[in-house]
Amino acid sequence: MVARCYLPVASALLLLSQFTSTTFAFKFTPTGQTVQLDGSSYYVPPDVVSTITVSKHLKKALDSAGGLLPFTVVNAGSFTYGEKDFSQDIAAYTARDDVFSKGFMEAVYVQYSNVSNQRGFSAPRLSSNSSVSVVTTGFASNTSTIPTGPYFVTSTGAVHEAWKLFSDVQGAFLETTITNKDGTFSVLPANVEGQSLAIAVPSRLYFTKTEEKPLAGVRLGIKDIYDIAGLRTSNGNRAWYHFYPAANETAVTVQRLINAGAVIVGKMKTSQFANGEVATADWVDYHEPFNPRGDGYQDTSSSSSGPGAGAAAYDWLDLTLGSDTGGSIRNPSQVQGLFGNRPSWGLAPLDGIMPMAPQLDTPGFLTRHPDIWIAASKVLYSDNITMSHSYPSKIQTINWPTTNDSVADGLLLNFLDKVTTMLNASTTTLNLTEKWSQTHPVNVTSSVLDLMNLTYAVLIGQQTTSLRDPFYAAYSAANAGRVPFINPVPMTRWAWADSLPKSYLPAAIANKTIFEIWISENVLVADDKTCSDSLAFYVGGKGSTNYRNAYRKAPGIPTGFDTSRVSNMGSGPDFVIPIGEAPYFSNITLRTEYLPVSVDILAAKGCDGMIFGLVQDLVKAGVVKGTRAGYSGVTGEQILF
Ligand SMILES: *[C@@H]1O[C@H](CO)[C@@H](O)[C@H](O)[C@H]1NC(C)=O
Ligand SMILES: *[C@@H]1O[C@H](CO)[C@@H](O)[C@H](O)[C@H]1NC(C)=O
Ligand SMILES: *[C@@H]1O[C@H](CO)[C@@H](O)[C@H](O)[C@H]1NC(C)=O
Ligand SMILES: *[C@@H]1O[C@H](CO)[C@@H](O)[C@H](O)[C@H]1NC(C)=O
Ligand SMILES: *[C@@H]1O[C@H](CO)[C@@H](O)[C@H](O)[C@H]1NC(C)=O
Ligand SMILES: *[C@@H]1O[C@H](CO)[C@@H](O)[C@H](O)[C@H]1NC(C)=O
Ligand SMILES: *[C@@H]1O[C@H](CO)[C@@H](O)[C@H](O)[C@H]1NC(C)=O
Ligand SMILES: *[C@@H]1O[C@H](CO)[C@@H](O)[C@H](O)[C@H]1NC(C)=O
Ligand SMILES: *[C@@H]1O[C@H](CO)[C@@H](O)[C@H](O)[C@H]1NC(C)=O
Ligand SMILES: *[C@@H]1O[C@H](CO)[C@@H](O)[C@H](O)[C@H]1NC(C)=O
Ligand SMILES: *[C@@H]1O[C@H](CO)[C@@H](O)[C@H](O)[C@H]1NC(C)=O
Ligand SMILES: *[C@@H]1O[C@H](CO)[C@@H](O)[C@H](O)[C@H]1NC(C)=O
Repeated sequence: MVARCYLPVASALLLLSQFTSTTFAFKFTPTGQTVQLDGSSYYVPPDVVSTITVSKHLKKALDSAGGLLPFTVVNAGSFTYGEKDFSQDIAAYTARDDVFSKGFMEAVYVQYSNVSNQRGFSAPRLSSNSSVSVVTTGFASNTSTIPTGPYFVTSTGAVHEAWKLFSDVQGAFLETTITNKDGTFSVLPANVEGQSLAIAVPSRLYFTKTEEKPLAGVRLGIKDIYDIAGLRTSNGNRAWYHFYPAANETAVTVQRLINAGAVIVGKMKTSQFANGEVATADWVDYHEPFNPRGDGYQDTSSSSSGPGAGAAAYDWLDLTLGSDTGGSIRNPSQVQGLFGNRPSWGLAPLDGIMPMAPQLDTPGFLTRHPDIWIAASKVLYSDNITMSHSYPSKIQTINWPTTNDSVADGLLLNFLDKVTTMLNASTTTLNLTEKWSQTHPVNVTSSVLDLMNLTYAVLIGQQTTSLRDPFYAAYSAANAGRVPFINPVPMTRWAWADSLPKSYLPAAIANKTIFEIWISENVLVADDKTCSDSLAFYVGGKGSTNYRNAYRKAPGIPTGFDTSRVSNMGSGPDFVIPIGEAPYFSNITLRTEYLPVSVDILAAKGCDGMIFGLVQDLVKAGVVKGTRAGYSGVTGEQILF
């Protein structure tokens, strides 16, 4: 009996998928179908993962369900598999997987693997569990085993995976995806309630992490400045998205993650051409995603806005890939309670990634999960990263609180105290301006602010020649001389770059080099044993507000110098660690809400693996914890709308 509320929506498509080898006069591509099971939506991909023998009982259930039935595959290592094993398996599936649900227990397929003699066998009785209507069995050779978990089966015995559909209620995605058999990607042909895109995620039960596939089943969202074969890239610009064809190659960095087993679920929003934008007014082409924390109306920061909002909002999303040229991973991580890394410059190739400033562009992650962060970083940076566990015994603090005047101060002081104790370290305060005036190179007499004031703005001005000029030329040629629409922030920055003498770019690169050498000799010095002679901590965020409904002044030029530029200009790592949250009075909800508090950790260039080692040990010691999706990084809870 099929008792579940279960609605096949377009099973004809699925059945036709069996005939793809036939030659038709038309180009016809089955793209799967969507179904509902006990109120949840699922996507059923067209690919057949296995074919099973349809028993009499199963056929009856299939007939009354209209030819497509949810079912669960369990693995029996021997003939003694029974009720107790089954209960344990189901409990484990429920605990581990957000796709599996009771509805899949309508029919159960007991798969015997590693059994040599199939004679004298009878099917186990699992029917004392009232959820199970049909039990069917089969034998699998060691190589044809179907991974356990939820599936859909057709009348012909074709087994299809079950992908659960979620709504992108925070508007973090630009396009959501499915993987094709040939390794390219297509747009997910599905929709669900929630006024936004649907995202499909596969059952976690299909995947087993191995040495070759350390990211097996990790659900990954990609900032839409990375090329993915089969999908268009927008770079946060509508004209760009519609003008250029789909990418025919996947960025090297993304391909590494795919090869390691990550499942790409979609392309995520970026502020335009990865420039710094705020919600009201700046985001003209697309709407800024919604930061799920606190009152739900705080800015996400940019430019990895989609990766930040998605990683903070959705527990079904494990990891997002962003990029950081001037803070684009760190800032969204800080304001949304995520782990995020700007890596040392040059750790991974930039092929297939939109350029901003080649001397500053870096790929890195945003996530709630320190363990996944570390595993994915080993894959992304490959030979260029070595995890290590010998730490400096000197911690330099920059603008750190000295008295406990707020909840945020308390968290920061407590964190520093615990790390200092764990590393048996001494702390000193670091004032970069002062340090520069004491130790600057003899032939560079300007202040560090004069040296650095224009550097960032000049370097990102390279976008005019690397990106804008070829785009304008191609677009104009194809559109009767028209110029495409550009948001105000990139427009302003590009216009300023156009006004500069040509000598500024080499001068800015030279100034960056001066700073990089100075930092490496005076502030964060390489060390044989501990990689870096010291760590430097600065305050990533104290839970302060940045309302998305605030009207602001017209965009300007990102000049100046502050602590967040140390890693950009020094080419070293800068990792964001969320440490808790602080209360504030929201002028949206008119009551107290909470926002993330975070720390940024700096070390000498190339010491990314040492910081990851430290994070690992801090997690082990309970000083640092993974964060949660939702309203709060500490308690989770429903996002406010
Ligand atoms: C396969 O079966 C043999 C004996 O029947 C047992 O010793 C072995 O552990 C089983 N292997 C697996 C992977 O279940
Ligand atoms: C499965 O593999 C194991 C070990 O590799 C082997 O001992 C066993 O005979 C195989 N079982 C079948 C049914 O092929
Ligand atoms: C059947 O299995 C489900 C899922 O594990 C469980 O919640 C339920 O209690 C079981 N029912 C019986 C009668 O064992
Ligand atoms: C892929 O696209 C690029 C840029 O559009 C083009 O130059 C190249 O020839 C294409 N390569 C293949 C294999 O189609
Ligand atoms: C390691 O870094 C170097 C220098 O930036 C780069 O050329 C190389 O491609 C990187 N190696 C890997 C495996 O990414
Ligand atoms: C700091 O003060 C807060 C109250 O504002 C208190 O809850 C916290 O325990 C204090 N932390 C430290 C490290 O003293
Ligand atoms: C901590 O470091 C000091 C010297 O800086 C040393 O005397 C002491 O033994 C160390 N303690 C531990 C527990 O390592
Ligand atoms: C750093 O030092 C400069 C110069 O001595 C001083 O003006 C500034 O206030 C100091 N900054 C902090 C945060 O102490
Ligand atoms: C300063 O001196 C160093 C060492 O002699 C040299 O390499 C560098 O180019 C000089 N920098 C400037 C700005 O003159
Ligand atoms: C480079 O630094 C000098 C100070 O040493 C400053 O006067 C100049 O404006 C800087 N140039 C650029 C392009 O950043
Ligand atoms: C930094 O550069 C901007 C733009 O040229 C200028 O307006 C500002 O005064 C400069 N700041 C400093 C401290 O030199
Ligand atoms: C909330 O406060 C911010 C910052 O003080 C302000 O810009 C914004 O307009 C206020 N919003 C409302 C709805 O009052």
